[in-house]
Amino acid sequence: MTIANTVVVGLQWGDEGKGKVVDRLAEHSAYVVRFQGGNNAGHTLVVNGEKIVLHVIPSGILHPSARCVVGNGVVVDPEVMVTELDQLAARGRTVTPAQLSISTDAHVIMPWHRLLDACREDARGEQLIGTTRKGIGPTYEDKVARRGIKVADLMDPATLRRHVEAILPEKNRQIVEWYDGEPLTVDSVVAWAAPFADRLRQYVCDTVELLHAASRRDEAILFEGAQGTFLDVDHGTYPFVTSSNTVAGGACAGTGVGPRDVHAVVGIVKAYATRVGTGPFPTELHGAVGERLRELGGEYGATTGRPRRCGWFDAALVRRAVQLNGVTHLTLTKLDILGGFDELCIGTGYEGADAFPSHDLEQATPVYERLPGWGSDVSGARTWDDLPPAAQAFVSRIEEIVGVPIVLIGVGPGRAEVVERADPIATLTQARR
Ligand code: IMP
Repeated sequence: MTIANTVVVGLQWGDEGKGKVVDRLAEHSAYVVRFQGGNNAGHTLVVNGEKIVLHVIPSGILHPSARCVVGNGVVVDPEVMVTELDQLAARGRTVTPAQLSISTDAHVIMPWHRLLDACREDARGEQLIGTTRKGIGPTYEDKVARRGIKVADLMDPATLRRHVEAILPEKNRQIVEWYDGEPLTVDSVVAWAAPFADRLRQYVCDTVELLHAASRRDEAILFEGAQGTFLDVDHGTYPFVTSSNTVAGGACAGTGVGPRDVHAVVGIVKAYATRVGTGPFPTELHGAVGERLRELGGEYGATTGRPRRCGWFDAALVRRAVQLNGVTHLTLTKLDILGGFDELCIGTGYEGADAFPSHDLEQATPVYERLPGWGSDVSGARTWDDLPPAAQAFVSRIEEIVGVPIVLIGVGPGRAEVVERADPIATLTQARR
């Protein structure tokens, strides 16, 4: 019984709770693959009773049977990668090359990328994007501008030096002349890279070949998306987006696996909406209700600790995300957080807009449908029938507007705290055929 090659993607602005679903599916997958983004993502894991937050290593790392892959579409900060490996080792989980593979073609976040990310954000003043300042955007820029450094280059000191010598003069001009910063030297950059390269070399390989071999053996591949659909550089709320393609289609370009080898797309949505950083958010709540959602939902960023902006579920936005990703199955998370509200709202569209106002979301005023709350704790529910009728009505209404069945409903942080409307493993096994 092999489950479908499945992409898991967030359908809002990230932080939908993908980790729990990935964790569940990783148990049944031979490979767990990241295909975009970098250490701007974050997922919290509990190892031997201790919490650690991983940012770049796929969250499947704790499943002994799953091999984790950092695909070519990811941008890798070698320092962060080594820190995460050390954190895992310190908790008795030394990561072997049989458990982790890093693509030779992934691009490297270099010291100038982090520096320029922070300098640019500071220079933008009120117009800031609110990036994570981890160097993600500048690294993707250099990739597209054909002046990036790949993991393969990092592994070879002579090649690295040659590239750094060619790139650094321009970077230093920006750092010094535009941002009044301290220049970097070729020697310091090469020396910085050496210990990380030595440590990571054992994991680096042609991950395209690895995944195609897995496909030939009919082994399940799970593609773990980071961020969310409306942070996608093409389809998101540009320019308030991240610099990669977060939509499911990115899984193909970011791993070298063709579209015919992807069988299912599981979209994750939170029962309300959140976003970090700046940018349009039509259903945002500015007053006490928003604050209550933030407190009840623990809505603070795993990567930056920033309070997340909170608002009502925007079904019109999610319907668009379903199209953009080709979603086959939906998972709704954090339904329990809404238990304390007497009345709930779902955004069903925007005033005066027949179509999705992708270029005008900043100005869009949501049209709300009001639904009664259920005013009780649903964290103990495990079946559909355990949910109060008002909670069932809320879920059904979302399904109706969005047009895709909700397979799993999260009702608490624990792994077991889910309502299964259909067995996800059986459903995804079916999807492979
Ligand atoms: P960057 O990815 O650091 O360039 O940040 C660009 C935008 O994406 C900012 O609004 C960030 O807050 C947001 N962002 C990046 N990664 C995540 C994530 O994992 N969850 C939610 N928002 C994110």
